[in-house]
Amino acid sequence: METLVYYEAEQIAQKSWKITNTCKSFAFCYLIEGEKYALLIDSIIGVGNLKKFCETLTDKKIVVVNTHGHTDHIGGNFFFDHYLIHPRDMELAAQAYGYSKQEIFQMAVSQVPKEIAEQMEPDDNFADWKPLTVYPVNDGDVFDLGDRIIEVVEVPGHTVGSIVLIDHKSRIAYIGDACNGNTLMEFSNSAPVCTYMKGLLHLLEHEKEYDRMYGGHEIFDGSILREAIETVGRVLAGTDDREEAEGMMGGRVYYAAARKKDGYGRVDGKHFNMSYNPDRVNVPDETKKVYRFD
Ligand SMILES: [Fe+2]
Repeated sequence: METLVYYEAEQIAQKSWKITNTCKSFAFCYLIEGEKYALLIDSIIGVGNLKKFCETLTDKKIVVVNTHGHTDHIGGNFFFDHYLIHPRDMELAAQAYGYSKQEIFQMAVSQVPKEIAEQMEPDDNFADWKPLTVYPVNDGDVFDLGDRIIEVVEVPGHTVGSIVLIDHKSRIAYIGDACNGNTLMEFSNSAPVCTYMKGLLHLLEHEKEYDRMYGGHEIFDGSILREAIETVGRVLAGTDDREEAEGMMGGRVYYAAARKKDGYGRVDGKHFNMSYNPDRVNVPDETKKVYRFD
C-alpha cells in the first residue's frame, strides 16, 4: 500500500514555505527557515506528523508560534514540545488539551473521503493532545532567526490574542485570521469591534513593511487592510449594511457588508468582510486580561 501523504509544501519566498494538509485542507501554516532556527507559524489541525514533514524542509531547530488559539491553527502543536502564543489566547489554546491520539484518529477518519480513510492507520501521524510548554509572545517582540527578523504585531479582533507576524526580509505579513473575506468576530473570545479597529490601525503603522499577506485560509495583497478599516469604521458609526445571518455558534449575527447570494464575496466587489455580534460593537476595551476564579 502506498504511504499516505498528509502534507505538501509550496515555496512562497526564499526559505519560506506554505504548508497544506493534503487530506483536509481547511487551513495553511508556514515554515520560515533562518540561519539559527526555523519558525513554524501555526500548525493546522493535527492530522499527519507535522514535525516530521517540516524536517524534510529544514534541518534547523523548529520553534512553533501560533497566530491565535483556534484548533485549526494549533492542532499540530502536539508533535512538538512547546509553542508560543499571545497570553490572551493561552486559555483558548489550553482548552484543546485532552484529546487522545485515538480520538483524533477517529475524528480524522470520519471527515475524509472513504478511499483515504481506508489507508489511514493510527500510526505516528497522530499524537495525543497533551499539555505542552507554552511561552508568551507580545506586541513588538521579534524572532531573530539570525539572518531575518520576524516581528510580532498584536491585532485583537477575531480572537483577543490574535497576532500578525511580519517577515521583514521577504516582506510578507503572516496574518492568521486577523482579517480576510470572512473575518469571524462573533465568538465569545472575539474582541469588541472598537478594539478591533485599534488593532487594525496598529497594523497600518506597519503597512510599509510588507507587500503580501499570507493568512490561515486566504492569501492577498496588503490592500485588504484599508478595506477592513473602512468597513469597521462603518460598523462603529452604525452605517454598515448589517446583513443578518446565522452565527457559527447559533444565534443571529450581522455581516458588515452585504454578500452575494452564494454567501461569499461582497455585493460591492470589495473583499474584506466580517461577522459580528451587535452587542459587541462599542463596549469597554477588553484587551487587558481579566482573571476570574469563580
Ligand atoms: Fe480562527
